[in-house]
Order: sequence, then structure tokens, then C-alpha cells
Amino acid sequence: MKFSIAIIAMLSLVLSMAATAETSPQEAKQIYDQMCAGCHGFQGDGGEGHRGGFSPHIGTLANKAYMASVPDEYLAMIIKKGGAAMGKIATMPAWENKFTEEQVNALVKHIRSFAPAEH
Ligand code: HEC
Repeated sequence: MKFSIAIIAMLSLVLSMAATAETSPQEAKQIYDQMCAGCHGFQGDGGEGHRGGFSPHIGTLANKAYMASVPDEYLAMIIKKGGAAMGKIATMPAWENKFTEEQVNALVKHIRSFAPAEH
């Protein structure tokens, strides 16, 4: 009995995930905090959230001047293809097989929130 309840719970989770084509900002933050903050930090500054050890401290995502100089397409591309493919430090993994296009775009938006463009 317990077993089947667990299965139903799992199935409905999978179904509800498949139903949301759009990636919410909360979901993007969750992905970022789990998968990216270990190197980039929760705020993109390579600080808090960094896992230490062998991970590099990468602070560029919170650097206003740098972020203003690169288009969204570039950020999406490096997330998909990884650092090596883009002539950057190869420690940045390629994520194109992990995330959907929507998730990558939501991640780009989340990253943009660290160093908001001037209005
Ligand atoms: C194992 C460490 C590591 C993880 C995990 C990681 N990155 Fe990176 N990331 C890097 C490194 C290293 C660079 C290249 C920095 C450089 O060459 O200046 C980079 C560069 C980037 C850049 C380009 C900005 C720049 O500095 O040119 C973006 C955007 C980016 N990462 C997003 C992400 C996202 C989104 C995730 C999670 C899905 C993620 N990264 C996970 C290490 C990591």
C-alpha cells in the first residue's frame, strides 16, 4: 500500500514537471543554487555558496561592466557548450544535455539579476 502511494506521488511529480514548459524564476534559482553556485556563488560573485575545495571562484556573473558587455545569446551559449568550447576556463561544464532551452533561458535571466542593467 505504502509502495503504490509513493509511485503515484512520483508519477504526478514527473507529470507536473513535464506540463510546465515555461521555467519559473523560482525553478531557475533552485537549479542555479544547486548546480552553479558551487563555483559562481549564490550571488554570482564567487562568494557565498561557493563549495570550496577544487572549485574555482568565478565572480564574473556579478560584474556589471562584464555583464553589460555580453549579450544573452552569449551567456546561453556558454551554459550550453561549456567553457572550453567558448575559449574560457574549461572547468565550466557544458549543460546542453541537462537542461531544456527554456531552462537555459530562465538561467540567463536569473544570472542577469545579479548585476541588473542600469535604467
Ligand atoms: C565546476 C565549476 C562551475 C560550475 C558548476 C558552473 N560553472 Fe559557469 N563557469 C565556470 C568557469 C571556470 C567559467 C569561466 C570563467 C572564465 O573563463 O573567465 C564559467 C563561466 C560561466 C559563464 C560565462 C561568464 C563568464 O565568466 O564568461 C556563465 C554564463 C556561466 N558560467 C553560467 C553557469 C551556470 C548557469 C551554471 C549552472 C548550470 C554554471 N555556470 C556552473 C565554472 C563553473
